[in-house]
Formats: sequence, C-alpha cells, structure tokens
Amino acid sequence: MLDEKIETIHSEFLKEIPEADNSKKIEEIRIKYLSRNGLLSSLFEELKNAPKEDKPLLGKKLNEMRNSIAQTFEQAKAKVDTTGKFFENKIDLSLPGITRAIGSKHILTQTLDEIKNIFKGMGFSVTLGPELESDYYNFEALNFPHDHPARDMQDTYFINNNFLLRTHTTPVQVRIMEKEEPPIRAIMPGRVYRNEAVSARSYCMFHQVDGIYVDTDVSFAELKATLVSFAMQFYGSDLMYRFRPSFFPFTEPSAEMDITCFLCHGSGCKICKGSGWLEILGCGMVDPNVFKSVNYDSEKYTGYAFGMGIERIGLLKYGIDDIRIYFENDLRFLKQF
Ligand code: DAH
Repeated sequence: MLDEKIETIHSEFLKEIPEADNSKKIEEIRIKYLSRNGLLSSLFEELKNAPKEDKPLLGKKLNEMRNSIAQTFEQAKAKVDTTGKFFENKIDLSLPGITRAIGSKHILTQTLDEIKNIFKGMGFSVTLGPELESDYYNFEALNFPHDHPARDMQDTYFINNNFLLRTHTTPVQVRIMEKEEPPIRAIMPGRVYRNEAVSARSYCMFHQVDGIYVDTDVSFAELKATLVSFAMQFYGSDLMYRFRPSFFPFTEPSAEMDITCFLCHGSGCKICKGSGWLEILGCGMVDPNVFKSVNYDSEKYTGYAFGMGIERIGLLKYGIDDIRIYFENDLRFLKQF
C-alpha cells in the first residue's frame, strides 16, 4: 500500500514540476509536497504504522524518493530564479525603448532668429528694452502729440498715469540713443501689448522688431536698400516690392513697405484683399523732434528706422490664418515647424 502511494506521489510530482515556471507555482509545489503538512510528511507518518519487517525497505525507498524530489525541486526553483521567469510578463527586454519627445524652438523664436541673423549680417546689433514702459519713452519722446489717438485707453494698457505696457518696440530706439552717440545700428525685438478685441487678426500681446541706423549722411536710399535686401533674404529673391507714403509721428518722411502677395503672386486673392500686395513693415527717416529729445544734433545726423510685427510675418510666410494659434501651445501646430 505505502509502496504504491510512494510511486503515485512521485510520478505526480514529476508531472507537475515541469509546469512550475514561475515563483508562485514553485511555492505551491513546495507546500503540497515538501512542507510540514505536505504529502512527504504524511508518507513518513504512515511509515510508522507499516509492518515491522517492511519498514527498512520502505524507509529506504521513501528516503530516496524524498531526496530525488528535493533535488528536482531545487533545480526547478533555481531555474525560475535565474531566468527571472516570474517577471517575464512584466518586462520584455526585446521591446524597443521609448523615445523621448524632444522640444523644438517655437515658430516665433525661429522667425525672430532668422530676422536677427539677416540684420546681424548687415552690421546691426541686437538690443532689448523693458516691456513695462513709461509714457515718456512710449509716446512723448517719439513725438506723439498729447491728443494722439494711440494714447487712448482703448489701445494702451495703462498701469497708472505714468506707466504702461509698451505698445511697440520703438521706445527702445530712444533708450539706445540716450546712452550712445552715433553711429548706432541696432534692431530691437520684443513683446508689445495692445488693448484690442482678441480675434483671428489681432491679439492683446504680440511681437515686433524695430530697427534704427543713425550716422552722418544716412539716406532714404540706404533705408530702401537695407529693407529690400532683408525682404529678399527672408521671403525669396523673386518678390516684387513697393514703398508707399505713410505717417508715423517719429519718422519724416514715413513709408510702408509692401511685397507681392505670397499666395497669388500679385494677381489678387483673399489674403491680399484683391490688391496683389501685402504690407510687411513701417519705416521712415527719424524725425528731428526725436533727435531733439535725445540731444542729437539733427543738423549733423540723419537716421532711418523701421518696425515690423513678427506674428504678421509668419502669417504671410507660412499662410497661418489665425494669430491666436501662436499662443495656444497646440503641439499639432508647433510640430509643423
Ligand atoms: N511702431 C510702429 C507700429 O507699431 C512701427 C514702426 C513704423 C516702427 C515706422 C518704426 C518706424 O521704427 O520707423 O506700428
């Protein structure tokens, strides 16, 4: 009887052990066969009641079987431990790694970098100024009359009577001229703010780049040559351009520069409102009144200045049709650049 039981349990063990391919199953087998209340213990218990004459042989067989089971069990256990089978379902070392998304420069920064590089190549340096500006720098020193509509509460975010969020980057021209004597040649990029209704065409904050060149004998022809060179490097050398008379308080004469519409190449479309032309910047010769406010001798020096919106340039160059999309941080938009 006991003899048969030993055989059955042994063969049952041998059938089960190959299936124990993780630590949980190994532990179940240990409990079933080798623990204090396991099957082997119960066999040794039964041995006590076996007929005296059978005991030596049965005892020997039982011991051999126990050693064999223990050995096979240890082997199976070691295999699971060293191959880490228990973790197999959680970590697949053959899977490719997770690639981390790498950030990129915002399209406005890229556009600004490109503008900076072009002007640096023409001898301009880059100067920054404060976004919180005084009425003096933003308007007064730039020859804005006291009743000029741009000072109106509707356009300007006033902080108090004296301070405001700058409405353009032109005040940095005054700051440079106060500090340095001619010749000066600089561009001034930065954020500007306007209290306008937010729409596809206008936003309460945007970016501009102003430029200024002051020296003896600076001419309007040089202004045109510089801006045409910029436009051709930035938009492509096959564009057509024109300068239209315009007005700014801080330049005299003043002009606006147009280029042929990037979409219809001049034949007229929705983007250029049928005219074939797109306005890209304002410019002019620095008004003598501005020189007066920085104590430059306007008999000795002349200068030109210009200013453009960076968002607008991107709108024109890439056909972006809503200014708000620049500031929404939507990766589907940003990743296209
Ligand atoms: N500040 C003007 C604006 O915000 C742009 C501008 C026009 C700047 C002519 C200039 C300039 O420096 O000469 O619309």
